[in-house]
Amino acid sequence: MNHLVPQTMGQQFGRRSWAEPWKIKMVEPLRMISREERQRALEEAGYNTFLLRSEDVYIDLLTDSGTSAMSDRQWAGMMLGDEAYAGSRNFYHLEEAVRTYYGFRHVVPTHQGRGAEHLISQTAIKPGQFVPGNMYFTTTRLHQELAGGIFVDVIIDEAHDPESLHPFKGNVDLAKLEDLISRVGAEQIAYISLAGTVNMAGGQPVSMANVQALRELCDRRGIRIFLDATRLVENAFFIQEREEGYAGRSIAQILREFCDYADGAWMSAKKDNLVNIGGWLAVNDDSLFEELRNLVVVYEGLHTYGGLAGRDMETLAIGIEESVQDDHIRARIGQVRYLGELLTDWEIPVVQPVGGHAIFLDARRFYPHIPQDEFPAQTLAAELYLDSGIRSMERGIASAGRDPKTGDHHRPKLELTRLTIPRRVYTQAHMDVVAESVKAVHDARESTRGLRMTYEPKYLRFFQARFERL
Ligand code: F0G
Repeated sequence: MNHLVPQTMGQQFGRRSWAEPWKIKMVEPLRMISREERQRALEEAGYNTFLLRSEDVYIDLLTDSGTSAMSDRQWAGMMLGDEAYAGSRNFYHLEEAVRTYYGFRHVVPTHQGRGAEHLISQTAIKPGQFVPGNMYFTTTRLHQELAGGIFVDVIIDEAHDPESLHPFKGNVDLAKLEDLISRVGAEQIAYISLAGTVNMAGGQPVSMANVQALRELCDRRGIRIFLDATRLVENAFFIQEREEGYAGRSIAQILREFCDYADGAWMSAKKDNLVNIGGWLAVNDDSLFEELRNLVVVYEGLHTYGGLAGRDMETLAIGIEESVQDDHIRARIGQVRYLGELLTDWEIPVVQPVGGHAIFLDARRFYPHIPQDEFPAQTLAAELYLDSGIRSMERGIASAGRDPKTGDHHRPKLELTRLTIPRRVYTQAHMDVVAESVKAVHDARESTRGLRMTYEPKYLRFFQARFERL
């Protein structure tokens, strides 16, 4: 892949590479500060990459959330903002885009994903009910718990094994789900919380066969399915690539078919939908919509803006259309894979198969000498920043938080450091720089020590916790 090595050119004759289906029209300069300055910045941030200033970061792989580059069409859409308090034309454009591409009847805009999670949790969960899902997500589970729900992980076991090569590690284990239903009764299940792709498992997809079987089971038991559609377009790409019968279908067709098995969806539009802020909630049921439309006014804003400006809704509507283009999604996931393949070739432990939005370094295998209670994934994120100014994120014991009943740490099997790739932002050369830095940190692994938590906030602790070196 190295374009600087001419002797390989002969072997590459006849090769056909993919390339980004866009060119760059505007640039934002990057700055790398010195190692001493990075050391100081890291200490000031309490070894938590969330507490760094973005100015002190060189390549920012903290998240793919709200970090996308918008297209020229989206920027043009900014100028079409209809900032009327009620009934903005941009809302109707957004509604039409969600109906067309996701297929749900009623649409409620929200300021971002967790705004939608809050509303669906408050309306669809009765205190004491169970919410089975394909692995937890931090904000999703918290809103379910705040509504009195009890989250139960029903993902297949392979999802918890970073080395398993199962092509659809996001799948629901139907036997686990049936077992839960028979223990507690179908009326005690609020709904199935189904995410595609599964962020905490490494961006792993759910197969169409799985959602289809899930629908059949839920129809028999009278249970609703709500999707976390945050990265469902990326999920559609994996179905197109890996599932029999879908190679000839477009991403838009696959997305639509997947959604047809569900009763509704919530969305963090800051990911797949290519905007810097925004979210939505969409359902088919009329009376549930009535409730949601009423509740959104309390927490987000009127039901035709939900915390968004008219221009935000316009860029979101355009972003939805762009996000389902086959060449866009192929290049997006292609870039993630490019980085994954470099690291895999250098025998650096990453979650396999490489998922849709990020490379997840397996911190347990990276630092086998650091026990989980000494935050190996948090340590790795800190070391990467120190080495090269690259910002990544912990997805392990700090993110998992505490069991609300016992107060002890949740100790997830997966102890990961996420290199999250923003959409349409960095080039292949940036990916090379990232890979080389991971390699340097890996080479120095044996002398690396873990961390101790010195400050722990009550909710979603990973965002603001502070650490010091042991
Ligand atoms: N669901 C999933 C699967 C997510 O990844 C996120 C956010 C949300 C819901 C919440 O959406 O941030 O718009 O309120 N994930 C970000 C991340 C923060 O970095 O993975 P939000």
